[in-house]
Amino acid sequence: MNLILFGPPGAGKGTQAALIVDKYKLAHLSTGDLLRHEMSSSTELGNEITEIINSGKLVPNHHVLKMIKIFIENNKKSNGFLFDGFPRNQDQANLLDKLLANLDLKITSVILLEVDKESLRERILSRSQKEGRADDNEETLIKRLEVYFSETEPVIAHYSNKGLVKSIDGVGEINDINQRINSILDLV
Ligand code: AP5
Ligand code: MG
Repeated sequence: MNLILFGPPGAGKGTQAALIVDKYKLAHLSTGDLLRHEMSSSTELGNEITEIINSGKLVPNHHVLKMIKIFIENNKKSNGFLFDGFPRNQDQANLLDKLLANLDLKITSVILLEVDKESLRERILSRSQKEGRADDNEETLIKRLEVYFSETEPVIAHYSNKGLVKSIDGVGEINDINQRINSILDLV
Protein backbone atom coordinates (compact mmCIF):
# COMPACT_ATOMS: atom_id res chain seq x y z
CA MET A 1 0.00 0.00 0.00
CA ASN A 2 1.46 3.36 -1.04
CA LEU A 3 -0.51 6.34 0.17
CA ILE A 4 -0.51 10.10 -0.13
CA LEU A 5 -2.17 12.30 2.47
CA PHE A 6 -3.26 15.58 0.97
CA GLY A 7 -4.77 18.55 2.76
CA PRO A 8 -4.18 22.19 3.63
CA PRO A 9 -1.96 23.32 6.51
CA GLY A 10 -3.43 22.07 9.78
CA ALA A 11 -5.72 19.52 8.09
CA GLY A 12 -4.36 16.77 10.34
CA LYS A 13 -1.97 15.06 7.90
CA GLY A 14 0.73 14.45 10.52
CA THR A 15 -1.78 13.42 13.20
CA GLN A 16 -3.52 10.89 10.96
CA ALA A 17 -0.24 9.72 9.38
CA ALA A 18 1.04 8.58 12.77
CA LEU A 19 -2.06 6.41 13.28
CA ILE A 20 -2.05 5.01 9.73
CA VAL A 21 1.64 4.02 9.69
CA ASP A 22 1.20 2.30 13.03
CA LYS A 23 -1.75 0.23 11.82
CA TYR A 24 -0.51 -0.60 8.31
CA LYS A 25 3.25 -0.62 9.10
CA LEU A 26 4.20 1.87 6.40
CA ALA A 27 7.30 4.06 6.06
CA HIS A 28 6.21 7.63 6.87
CA LEU A 29 7.70 10.49 4.91
CA SER A 30 6.82 14.02 6.01
CA THR A 31 8.87 16.47 3.96
CA GLY A 32 7.91 19.19 6.46
CA ASP A 33 9.32 17.17 9.37
CA LEU A 34 12.53 16.42 7.44
CA LEU A 35 12.98 20.08 6.50
CA ARG A 36 12.34 21.23 10.10
CA HIS A 37 14.93 18.71 11.27
CA GLU A 38 17.46 20.30 8.91
CA MET A 39 16.58 23.72 10.34
CA SER A 40 16.86 22.67 13.98
CA SER A 41 20.21 20.98 13.26
CA SER A 42 21.41 24.18 11.53
CA THR A 43 22.74 22.27 8.53
CA GLU A 44 23.71 24.20 5.41
CA LEU A 45 20.37 23.25 3.87
CA GLY A 46 18.55 24.13 7.11
CA ASN A 47 20.01 27.62 7.17
CA GLU A 48 19.22 28.14 3.50
CA ILE A 49 15.54 27.23 3.85
CA THR A 50 14.63 28.82 7.18
CA GLU A 51 13.47 32.08 5.69
CA ILE A 52 11.49 30.31 2.96
CA ILE A 53 9.63 28.05 5.39
CA ASN A 54 8.98 30.83 7.84
CA SER A 55 7.42 32.90 5.05
CA GLY A 56 5.10 30.04 4.03
CA LYS A 57 6.49 29.49 0.52
CA LEU A 58 7.57 26.13 -0.90
CA VAL A 59 11.18 25.06 -0.60
CA PRO A 60 12.75 24.72 -4.11
CA ASN A 61 12.15 21.33 -5.69
CA HIS A 62 15.79 20.26 -5.99
CA HIS A 63 16.20 20.23 -2.18
CA VAL A 64 13.04 18.24 -1.62
CA LEU A 65 13.63 15.80 -4.45
CA LYS A 66 17.04 14.83 -3.14
CA MET A 67 15.47 13.92 0.22
CA ILE A 68 12.72 11.88 -1.40
CA LYS A 69 15.16 9.85 -3.48
CA ILE A 70 17.19 8.96 -0.40
CA PHE A 71 14.10 8.14 1.65
CA ILE A 72 12.59 5.85 -0.98
CA GLU A 73 15.91 4.10 -1.58
CA ASN A 74 16.43 3.55 2.16
CA ASN A 75 12.92 2.18 2.69
CA LYS A 76 12.34 0.17 -0.47
CA LYS A 77 11.91 -3.05 1.51
CA SER A 78 9.14 -1.59 3.69
CA ASN A 79 5.51 -2.66 3.60
CA GLY A 80 4.67 0.52 1.69
CA PHE A 81 4.97 4.29 1.89
CA LEU A 82 2.88 7.06 3.37
CA PHE A 83 3.70 10.45 1.85
CA ASP A 84 2.57 13.38 4.03
CA GLY A 85 2.94 16.88 2.62
CA PHE A 86 4.47 15.55 -0.61
CA PRO A 87 4.03 15.95 -3.56
CA ARG A 88 3.19 19.66 -3.43
CA ASN A 89 3.44 20.54 -7.11
CA GLN A 90 3.31 18.79 -10.48
CA ASP A 91 7.08 18.33 -10.82
CA GLN A 92 7.18 16.58 -7.45
CA ALA A 93 4.27 14.33 -8.47
CA ASN A 94 6.03 13.40 -11.72
CA LEU A 95 9.23 12.53 -9.92
CA LEU A 96 7.37 10.44 -7.35
CA ASP A 97 5.72 8.42 -10.13
CA LYS A 98 9.12 7.84 -11.71
CA LEU A 99 10.89 6.81 -8.49
CA LEU A 100 8.11 4.38 -7.59
CA ALA A 101 7.98 2.97 -11.13
CA ASN A 102 11.71 2.22 -10.91
CA LEU A 103 10.83 -0.11 -8.04
CA ASP A 104 7.77 -1.47 -9.86
CA LEU A 105 5.49 0.36 -7.43
CA LYS A 106 2.74 2.95 -7.73
CA ILE A 107 0.46 5.06 -5.58
CA THR A 108 -2.51 2.97 -4.47
CA SER A 109 -4.67 5.61 -2.70
CA VAL A 110 -4.77 9.32 -2.09
CA ILE A 111 -6.62 10.57 0.97
CA LEU A 112 -7.73 14.20 0.88
CA LEU A 113 -8.51 15.67 4.30
CA GLU A 114 -11.13 18.38 3.97
CA VAL A 115 -11.22 21.01 6.72
CA ASP A 116 -12.79 24.48 6.61
CA LYS A 117 -10.53 27.53 6.84
CA GLU A 118 -11.77 28.65 10.25
CA SER A 119 -10.96 25.26 11.82
CA LEU A 120 -7.52 25.32 10.17
CA ARG A 121 -6.88 28.76 11.63
CA GLU A 122 -7.97 27.68 15.12
CA ARG A 123 -5.75 24.58 15.03
CA ILE A 124 -2.66 26.41 13.77
CA LEU A 125 -3.01 29.29 16.23
CA SER A 126 -3.63 26.90 19.09
CA ARG A 127 -0.50 24.89 18.17
CA SER A 128 1.55 28.09 17.93
CA GLN A 129 1.00 28.60 21.66
CA LYS A 130 2.11 25.06 22.49
CA GLU A 131 4.93 24.25 20.08
CA GLY A 132 6.21 27.54 18.71
CA ARG A 133 6.60 26.47 15.06
CA ALA A 134 7.81 29.68 13.42
CA ASP A 135 5.40 29.33 10.48
CA ASP A 136 2.38 28.95 12.79
CA ASN A 137 1.16 32.54 12.86
CA GLU A 138 -1.71 34.37 11.23
CA GLU A 139 0.36 36.06 8.50
CA THR A 140 2.31 32.97 7.42
CA LEU A 141 -0.81 30.83 7.56
CA ILE A 142 -2.44 33.09 4.97
CA LYS A 143 0.56 32.54 2.68
CA ARG A 144 0.62 28.76 3.36
CA LEU A 145 -3.07 28.54 2.41
CA GLU A 146 -2.52 30.62 -0.72
CA VAL A 147 0.36 28.36 -1.79
CA TYR A 148 -1.72 25.26 -1.03
CA PHE A 149 -4.64 26.39 -3.19
CA SER A 150 -2.50 27.71 -6.07
CA GLU A 151 0.29 25.09 -6.28
CA THR A 152 -0.71 21.95 -4.38
CA GLU A 153 -4.46 21.50 -4.75
CA PRO A 154 -4.20 21.35 -8.59
CA VAL A 155 -1.99 18.24 -8.23
CA ILE A 156 -4.99 16.32 -6.88
CA ALA A 157 -6.30 16.16 -10.47
CA HIS A 158 -3.21 14.12 -11.42
CA TYR A 159 -4.51 11.40 -9.08
CA SER A 160 -8.28 11.87 -9.43
CA ASN A 161 -7.85 11.23 -13.17
CA LYS A 162 -6.61 7.79 -12.14
CA GLY A 163 -9.56 7.28 -9.76
CA LEU A 164 -7.31 7.22 -6.69
CA VAL A 165 -8.62 10.12 -4.61
CA LYS A 166 -10.93 9.70 -1.61
CA SER A 167 -12.10 12.83 0.20
CA ILE A 168 -12.56 12.57 3.95
CA ASP A 169 -14.30 14.99 6.30
CA GLY A 170 -11.32 16.07 8.41
CA VAL A 171 -13.37 17.86 11.08
CA GLY A 172 -14.29 16.10 14.32
CA GLU A 173 -12.56 13.82 16.81
CA ILE A 174 -9.14 12.51 15.74
CA ASN A 175 -10.21 8.88 16.26
CA ASP A 176 -13.44 9.32 14.30
CA ILE A 177 -11.48 10.76 11.37
CA ASN A 178 -9.08 7.85 11.63
CA GLN A 179 -12.01 5.41 11.44
CA ARG A 180 -13.20 7.15 8.26
CA ILE A 181 -9.75 6.67 6.73
CA ASN A 182 -9.40 3.05 7.88
CA SER A 183 -12.77 2.14 6.43
CA ILE A 184 -11.49 3.24 3.03
CA LEU A 185 -8.04 1.69 3.35
CA ASP A 186 -9.42 -1.65 4.51
CA LEU A 187 -11.14 -1.93 1.12
CA VAL A 188 -7.96 -1.27 -0.89
P1 AP5 B 1 4.38 20.88 6.45
O1 AP5 B 1 5.14 20.53 7.64
O2 AP5 B 1 3.99 19.81 5.52
O3 AP5 B 1 3.13 21.73 6.95
P2 AP5 B 1 1.64 21.95 6.42
O4 AP5 B 1 1.27 21.27 5.17
O5 AP5 B 1 1.45 23.42 6.44
O6 AP5 B 1 0.78 21.25 7.47
P3 AP5 B 1 0.97 21.05 9.04
O7 AP5 B 1 2.09 20.08 9.27
O8 AP5 B 1 1.01 22.35 9.72
O9 AP5 B 1 -0.42 20.40 9.36
P4 AP5 B 1 -0.92 18.91 9.21
O10 AP5 B 1 -1.89 18.80 8.09
O11 AP5 B 1 0.21 17.94 9.26
O12 AP5 B 1 -1.77 18.82 10.53
P5 AP5 B 1 -1.33 18.31 11.99
O13 AP5 B 1 -1.62 16.86 12.12
O14 AP5 B 1 0.03 18.80 12.30
O15 AP5 B 1 5.18 21.99 5.61
C1 AP5 B 1 5.74 23.11 6.24
C2 AP5 B 1 6.56 23.90 5.24
O16 AP5 B 1 7.66 23.11 4.79
C3 AP5 B 1 5.83 24.32 3.96
O17 AP5 B 1 5.12 25.53 4.13
C4 AP5 B 1 7.00 24.45 2.99
O18 AP5 B 1 7.70 25.65 3.20
C5 AP5 B 1 7.91 23.31 3.41
N1 AP5 B 1 7.62 22.06 2.69
C6 AP5 B 1 7.13 20.91 3.23
N2 AP5 B 1 7.00 19.96 2.30
C7 AP5 B 1 7.42 20.52 1.13
C8 AP5 B 1 7.51 20.04 -0.19
N3 AP5 B 1 7.12 18.79 -0.52
N4 AP5 B 1 7.97 20.89 -1.15
C9 AP5 B 1 8.36 22.14 -0.83
N5 AP5 B 1 8.29 22.66 0.40
C10 AP5 B 1 7.84 21.85 1.38
O19 AP5 B 1 -2.42 19.10 12.86
C11 AP5 B 1 -2.32 20.50 13.05
C12 AP5 B 1 -2.74 20.83 14.50
O20 AP5 B 1 -4.12 20.49 14.66
C13 AP5 B 1 -1.98 20.03 15.56
O21 AP5 B 1 -1.78 20.83 16.69
C14 AP5 B 1 -2.92 18.84 15.88
O22 AP5 B 1 -2.75 18.37 17.17
C15 AP5 B 1 -4.28 19.48 15.68
N6 AP5 B 1 -5.30 18.54 15.18
C16 AP5 B 1 -5.11 17.51 14.31
N7 AP5 B 1 -6.28 16.88 14.08
C17 AP5 B 1 -7.22 17.54 14.80
C18 AP5 B 1 -8.64 17.37 14.96
N8 AP5 B 1 -9.31 16.39 14.33
N9 AP5 B 1 -9.30 18.24 15.77
C19 AP5 B 1 -8.62 19.25 16.40
N10 AP5 B 1 -7.29 19.46 16.31
C20 AP5 B 1 -6.60 18.61 15.49
MG1 MG C 1 2.32 18.08 9.10
